[in-house]
Order: sequence, then structure tokens, then C-alpha cells
Amino acid sequence: MHLIATSTAELPFIANEIISSAADSRIFLFYGDMGAGKTTLIKALCGQLGVTEPATSPTFSIVNEYISADNNIYHFDFYRLKTETEALDMGYEEYFYSDAYCFIEWPEKIPNLLPEHYNKVEVVVQPDNSRSVIIERI
Ligand SMILES: Nc1ncnc2c1ncn2[C@@H]1O[C@H](COP(=O)(O)OP(=O)(O)OP(=O)(O)O)[C@@H](O)[C@H]1O
Ligand SMILES: [Mg+2]
Repeated sequence: MHLIATSTAELPFIANEIISSAADSRIFLFYGDMGAGKTTLIKALCGQLGVTEPATSPTFSIVNEYISADNNIYHFDFYRLKTETEALDMGYEEYFYSDAYCFIEWPEKIPNLLPEHYNKVEVVVQPDNSRSVIIERI
């Protein structure tokens, strides 16, 4: 599936499409350059899943937990990860193989730890500053 967000105002709609197209996996891997809009899209996804607290990038830890009435959500940012061992040490498996939603930025940092099945979300900045969002089930 290929969607276009011409502004952040369209992200709630796109987030809805992403959630409803992901029937059997709650793991979402976000690909895209720095500043592409991964965190912004994850905020919209959290909003659609009923999170009311503000979602921010996990700056001081690798993972942030968001609570809503119906869903447990974990937001990972592996950008500063130096080795995959750090992901093992923080117990990533407890999160990945739970029933919770897992939104993962910079999965490139954990190439050997990726689950067999997941939703791949790629965000690409277009010349007119809109964002192309490509969703693929792996
Ligand atoms: N669909 C969009 N249309 C216009 N601007 C957007 C859109 N999505 C995100 N932006 C803007 O892009 C900027 C960077 O977004 P964001 O922090 O989400 O990037 P990121 O991919 O998470 O970067 P990083 O890899 O550094 O974590 C923000 O200022 C945000 O408002
Ligand atoms: Mg980010």
C-alpha cells in the first residue's frame, strides 16, 4: 500500500490505514532518513490507538511505553544503539513477543533480531515536502 501525506494533518487518516491493514502482526518497523517523519507518524498511530499522553521519541532510553485504555504500546528508537547486544540486554524479546503494539525506529540497528513477520513502513520525503508512506507486510 502506498499513501501520500501532504501535511501532518493527514497523518491520523494514514495511521488508521496502517492499523487496519495490519491484521496479524502488531510489530511495525519504520524505515526512512533522519527527519523523514517516523516519530511524527508514530505519534499519529498512538493517537489512533487511544493514547492521550503526548508521545515523544525515547530520548533517554531505548524504549518508551504508552498506555491507553485498550492497548499497550512500546516505541523503540534504536538510533543510538552501538551493538545488538544492548537490545538483548534491555530485554527486547519481552516486548516484541508480547501482545503489545511495537513501533520501532531504526530497525537497521538490529538486523539479526528482527522478527520473522512484521509490518514494514517506509517514509520518504518528496521534493514538495510531502511524505510518501509505503506499507508492506513481511
Ligand atoms: N507528513 C508530513 N508532512 C510535513 N511535515 C512532516 C510530515 N511528517 C513529519 N514532518 C515533519 O518532519 C520533521 C521531522 O519529523 P520526525 O522527527 O518525525 O522524523 P524522524 O523520521 O523520526 O527522524 P529521526 O530519524 O531523527 O528520529 C518534523 O518537523 C515534522 O513536523
Ligand atoms: Mg524519530
